[in-house]
This record gives sequence, structure tokens and C-alpha cells, in this order.
Amino acid sequence: MSFDECVYALSNHEICILPTETVYGLACSALSVEAILKVYKLKGRPSTNPLIVHVLDHYSAEEISVTNGFSRKLAYAFWPGPLTLILPKKKCVPSEITAGLNSVAVRSPSHPTFRKILNEVKQPLAAPSANPSNKISPTNCKDAVTAFGMNCPPFLDGGQCEIGIESTVIDLTAHSPSILRIGPISKSAIEEVLGTEIQSKTGQKEKKIDTEKPSVSPGLGLKHYAPSTPLYLYTDIEKMLNSNTLIRDDILILPSPNVMIQSHKKNFTLFYLSSVGNPKEITKNFFRILNEADSLKKERIHASLFPCSDHLLLAVNDRLRRAASKCF
Ligand code: TXA
Ligand code: MG
Repeated sequence: MSFDECVYALSNHEICILPTETVYGLACSALSVEAILKVYKLKGRPSTNPLIVHVLDHYSAEEISVTNGFSRKLAYAFWPGPLTLILPKKKCVPSEITAGLNSVAVRSPSHPTFRKILNEVKQPLAAPSANPSNKISPTNCKDAVTAFGMNCPPFLDGGQCEIGIESTVIDLTAHSPSILRIGPISKSAIEEVLGTEIQSKTGQKEKKIDTEKPSVSPGLGLKHYAPSTPLYLYTDIEKMLNSNTLIRDDILILPSPNVMIQSHKKNFTLFYLSSVGNPKEITKNFFRILNEADSLKKERIHASLFPCSDHLLLAVNDRLRRAASKCF
């Protein structure tokens, strides 16, 4: 669809797929209950899971949420960009968007196309990731279109998303801020801006990964980003390569071609997340590669967690844990 058609659709209670710098979003007016319900229906998203609202800047955030000193500092430091702030909502925000909560998630995206659209429609835009609920977030237009198949809404193609994983989500509704979803903006960068320590409530502790025996995982609440193909996840790459769970024809997702695979004879299908193991490149390619691996419809995909403390790779590890069907 053209830019003008997209503006027209969004102004008339319709939904469309738009690019952001993190992942593609399924966008609609945040003030139209009719459009919001279409988004929930198309995604198959439980009505208990609230949507993110996108705005141009902190001034526009003030129109829909009760901002505070923390939000001002964070918006100044990181907006436009991949940081979502949870703030008390104002009355104009339909309760359908917040799943009945008194808070709303607000983010100012940096993608030029999304910003141009926001400028034209002059309304806040809700946009959850453009994937059916619990499936892989799309980082290019083709993946979003394929995911919705026959039911795909109109879309604007903005190429490959620059970042490749979803925004960091931070709750600013309580006395002390806490991170709800780790992402491209690190905890330490946020702490530096706020001048205070913050908590992390990302639910990782519940997830077993170190046990000797394979465990069925993740728990219901942690299930997310899942490919249709079972994903076997290992604590490190050595464990993966030496595992007797690897069977001929399986898919292996590797950080880069530098990883030495001795067992070529087993005829694995190999996917590389980057050319030299660069964290930004790995993050940018992660969901696209997972999607591509999934589309081959093989028996199993194998991947391993990243060992280092780079914050982007920690966020990729978080997505891997949520995508895994078995952890070793
Ligand atoms: O990067 C992103 O954030 C992308 C792009 C499209 O902007 N959007 C995205 O939306 O990832 P979604 O809906 O897939 O993830 C939003 C997350 C969900 O985990 C949701 O539960 C949480 O934010 N969330 C939304 N409103 C909330 C609220 N009021 N309180 C707590 N969590 C909230
Ligand atoms: Mg999502």
C-alpha cells in the first residue's frame, strides 16, 4: 500500500503492518476501540495482554499517560528509540488497549517511516509485534506477511529492521523502576541515566537451563517467540556440538562460520547468525534466521546460549529461552 493509503486506513479504524527499528508492528489508532479489537483478533492475542502505544515524543506521551521525572530523563536519553515506558494511563486511553490495567506502555520509535506516519495521522498508534500471538517477531516485511497468510492486512515495506529484537520494557509506575523485558537498551545504561539501581522482573529465574536431564520448557507464562519446529537449546556451544540429540538432517544455528563443525558427515543444515560473531549483527539477524530455519519444516532446530555478558546477546538469550521447547 502507498504511504497515503496507510494514513487513510489508520485514520479510519483499519490496521496495517509498519516497520519500526526493532521489529515490524501491527499498527492501528490507539484511540479506536474498533481497530484495537481487530488487532487482538488478527494476532489471536489474549485480551489480558496489553498493547504498546507509539508516540512521537515525550510531549505526546503526556497526552496519554501520567509522566514523571524518570520518564522525562529516560525519554531525553533514549527516545526516539527501543525503550518502552510503563506509566499510569490517562482516561483517553481505551481500557481495551491496556487489558483493563491502569497503566499504558509508551514508546517513541525512531524508524523514519513510522515517524512520518505518526506525524500525518496525528494520533498515538498501538503496534504490537506483527506476528500471531506467541510466534516469532518479524524483522522484515516478508516474514510478517507470510505469518498472517491469507488474513494479512495491508503493509508498508521498510526493509530489514535495524535492531532486530523488541524494545526494552521498563515499569515506571512504582516507587522504584523495574525492567519487565530486557532488550536493546541495557539495565546499566538506564541506571546511569536515572542515577539509581533498578530491579529486573523478567521471569528468568524460573527457567531451568543447567540441569543434566532435558526438561520440558518453557513454562506456560514464559512461552513466547516459538518456532513451529521444536527448538533444542543448550547452555553452550560445545554441549550442543557434542550432544547425542543431534540427528542427521537437523538444523544448527551457529553464531558465525568460525565455529568448527567436525561432524560434517552428519549432514546438518547450518545457519549462521553473523559473519564474525558481532553482537549487533547476531541480534539483527536472530529472528530472521529463526524464521528461515523454521520454514524448512525439519524435525529439530538446535541452538546454544551466548556465553558473554554483552547486553544485546543477553537479550537474544532471553528470546532463545522463551522459544525453546527443550533445554539441555
Ligand atoms: O519493540 C517493540 O516494543 C515492538 C515494536 C513493534 O514497537 N512492539 C512489541 O509489542 O514488542 P508487543 O505487544 O509484542 O510487546 C509488548 C510487551 C508485552 O509483553 C506486553 O505484555 C507489555 O509490553 N505491556 C504492554 N502494556 C503493558 C502494561 N500496561 N504493563 C505491563 N506490560 C505491558
Ligand atoms: Mg510480541
